[in-house]
Amino acid sequence: MKAKILELLKQNKKLFLSGEEISRQIGITRAAVWKYIKQLQSEGYLIESVSNNGYKLVDCPDLLTYEELSENLKTNMIGSKIIHFDSIDSTNNKAKELAEKGEPEGTVIISEAQTSGKGRVGRLWYSKAYQGICLSIILRPNIDLLSVPLITQIACAAACKATMKITDGVQIKWPNDLLLGGRKFCGILTESSGEIDKVNYIIVGIGINVNQEKNDFPESLEKKATSIKIETQNQISRKNLVCDIFYEFEKMYMEYKENGIINDVIDYCRRYSSIVGKQIIVERNGTGNRAKVVDINNCGQLVVELESGNTECISTGNITIL
Ligand code: BTN
Repeated sequence: MKAKILELLKQNKKLFLSGEEISRQIGITRAAVWKYIKQLQSEGYLIESVSNNGYKLVDCPDLLTYEELSENLKTNMIGSKIIHFDSIDSTNNKAKELAEKGEPEGTVIISEAQTSGKGRVGRLWYSKAYQGICLSIILRPNIDLLSVPLITQIACAAACKATMKITDGVQIKWPNDLLLGGRKFCGILTESSGEIDKVNYIIVGIGINVNQEKNDFPESLEKKATSIKIETQNQISRKNLVCDIFYEFEKMYMEYKENGIINDVIDYCRRYSSIVGKQIIVERNGTGNRAKVVDINNCGQLVVELESGNTECISTGNITIL
């Protein structure tokens, strides 16, 4: 009912609609209309209410609900269904639970806050409610498990391209981070299920610090984390950013899924890489090795030259830039 009232108000944006008209069109009492209007106002919708005139929608909040995103969505598949929460433990966990039950490709789980947001290697993802973006996309491509890291590269490139519409200076820190001013503002956690030769589903979890202020981060992250707002001094529309990410992601994902073409994605990740050509420490299974980054190859692996002179292709690892 609430969604129907919102739709009606949106269709008549900046015009007054009488309570009677709304109740007639939707088939509920005027008292019920009033109750739902109050709810929408408490969610941040600016609705003017004038006796004898009715209700007028003046402005919509920057919420990541289907109602708010659908106006600007330019995708066919990604975000065709959006399941929105005010708070949840982890959107990746929810997406996995739904994928196990057969939720189709393209469904996105979004939460305004997470109580146990997960990062790679057991790290936590911290995001203050309504300030950042926490979402997980369910995918079902016909690929093998070894190709899953390519999906992370597609997500990095999509988030990078979308953020570049707001500010330049975005860098990709292989395999799954985006940086602004050398600090992390976006992390991607890709999880998958399936057999070695056939993926059942993939969950691409994307976390972005958008409108956080410096003091919104715990002290331990002060030097490592940033947000787009901190770097640009501008309040950013999370709705627009999400729609842009979906659009960029779908284009590259469909090109890979349908035609197996990934070169452009890898070229992009190479071009905006913060580590290609740099000396790094790569940490794998508890041991760290000094190496020079030579390239990112077309399998999405990092090509490094170790101190021994040997060249290795790495599929995953924790990177520290020296
Ligand atoms: C990392 O930095 O290692 C990856 C962070 C990924 C965080 C996102 S937020 C949405 C999704 N749900 C989670 O629990 N994690 C990812």
